Amino acid sequence: MTDLHQELLRVYAGRATRRYGLSAVSQLQHALQAAALAEAAGEPPALILAALLHDVGHMIHEFGEDPAARGIDDRHEEIGADWLARHFGPAVAEPVRLHVPAKRYLCAAESDYFAKLSPDSVRSLALQGGPMSAEEVATFDRDPYAEAAKRLRRYDEGAKDPTATTPDFEHFLSYADACVRT
Ligand SMILES: [Fe+2]
Ligand SMILES: [Fe+2]
Repeated sequence: MTDLHQELLRVYAGRATRRYGLSAVSQLQHALQAAALAEAAGEPPALILAALLHDVGHMIHEFGEDPAARGIDDRHEEIGADWLARHFGPAVAEPVRLHVPAKRYLCAAESDYFAKLSPDSVRSLALQGGPMSAEEVATFDRDPYAEAAKRLRRYDEGAKDPTATTPDFEHFLSYADACVRT
């Protein structure tokens, strides 16, 4: 096993028992379900890995448990993307950086999207700046990773099912080697 695999296992095994926001699944289950949805959709390895690791920022920050409950935006998308960019190429790190902006984008661009958000996503949306302005939407559309980020966002929202079963963490880590930064 590579050092990077061990590092990722340590981060997830050590902290992923925390509940995912207000939902009934743990951070680890949330990560596995997001990756399983990306894999089932036929996504390339980089986006499956991005789905697995999209919330790594929640696990490596020092804001304590559930900072959103205390009105704190932990900026986990930036913390996580910067961490991932040290190990992987932009096709992993950049959709992760954009997964929160993608929620703000979809709330502005799709009239029915807000109604589909889970309670914790609604709660964090206000802290994250609310729906995008028209100008922000246009800027987001020009980002080369905008489409990947929107797809990641849908896997993220779908990954809160307390009854889902998935492959284990190591199964999805097998995608990591193909995505290591060159
Ligand atoms: Fe997130
Ligand atoms: Fe998430």
